[in-house]
Amino acid sequence: MDQLSDIDQWRRYAHEQRARGRRVGLVPTMGALHEGHGSLVRAAHEHGDVVLATIFVNPRQFHNDRDLASYPRTPDADFAAAERFGVDCLIAPSLVAMWPNYPEPTATTVSVRGISDHLEGVGRPGHFDGVASVVAKLFAITGPCRAYFGEKDFQQLGVIRAMVRDLALDVEVVGCPIIRDPDGLALSSRNVQLTESGRARATALSRALALVAAQPARASEHRARLLESLHSSSLEPIYAEVVDPLTLVPSSDTNSGVARALLACTVDGVRLIDNGPVQLVAQGE
Ligand code: PAJ
Repeated sequence: MDQLSDIDQWRRYAHEQRARGRRVGLVPTMGALHEGHGSLVRAAHEHGDVVLATIFVNPRQFHNDRDLASYPRTPDADFAAAERFGVDCLIAPSLVAMWPNYPEPTATTVSVRGISDHLEGVGRPGHFDGVASVVAKLFAITGPCRAYFGEKDFQQLGVIRAMVRDLALDVEVVGCPIIRDPDGLALSSRNVQLTESGRARATALSRALALVAAQPARASEHRARLLESLHSSSLEPIYAEVVDPLTLVPSSDTNSGVARALLACTVDGVRLIDNGPVQLVAQGE
């Protein structure tokens, strides 16, 4: 596995791969790698791409310093995991390389309006500006590529798709399914912060989603069932929404077809998110 940290070398590496006729597959991460990240690397290999994975804990997308400081950092384990997943080139740029003026703001920020403002955007103002800005920079350095993102962060995927479309970036965004533990909990770098009892209670998120996935209903009925299911497991939701899967606009009871249920809860002070498909039956149908 090749390893790089320098931005110019990374740019050249991607360029040389394309010059040799290979397609570059980019897997952006913040490290603390797990099988969810591994699934993105494997998806890229299945497409035949040469896989560049980046590890950068992007301070600009964290809402507060405490959250940033407590984010898990496991560089040695990440190196081993990246090799095991079959990453071709592991890229870990430094903070000064990515954001030379940090903590001063950069003059240029990428902001995807509308889709960034609700759900995760409410409790974490500026979060998606931080995500869109860093991902735009990763794309700019890498050049034309396929980029792999997990549906685990469903709103993030929508924000990045919107950015690529609006800025006509030469990037094909590939969304990949959520990888879960056998008990249903969606894999997340933050799961290591849960206590044993919190870990058990956290399975309520995927149970609530499985419940609504099993039965077509109106949007408002899905919302009520999600809330009831979480409350009965003593979890206090931050939000429980049903939205259009492309625009992430909340569904109404006149909508029918496939929608997406999105959940966020705090367990042991750890913010957990999950989502899954639901079928909408319009009022009167
Ligand atoms: P991070 O949380 O490290 O996630 C990196 C990628 O792995 C994201 O696309 C995320 O959706 C995906 N992922 C995480 N858990 C997953 C799971 N259980 N199943 C499938 N995919 C999963 O998301 C970020 O980093 C950052 O915001 C980033 C895009 C790198 C920008 O800084």
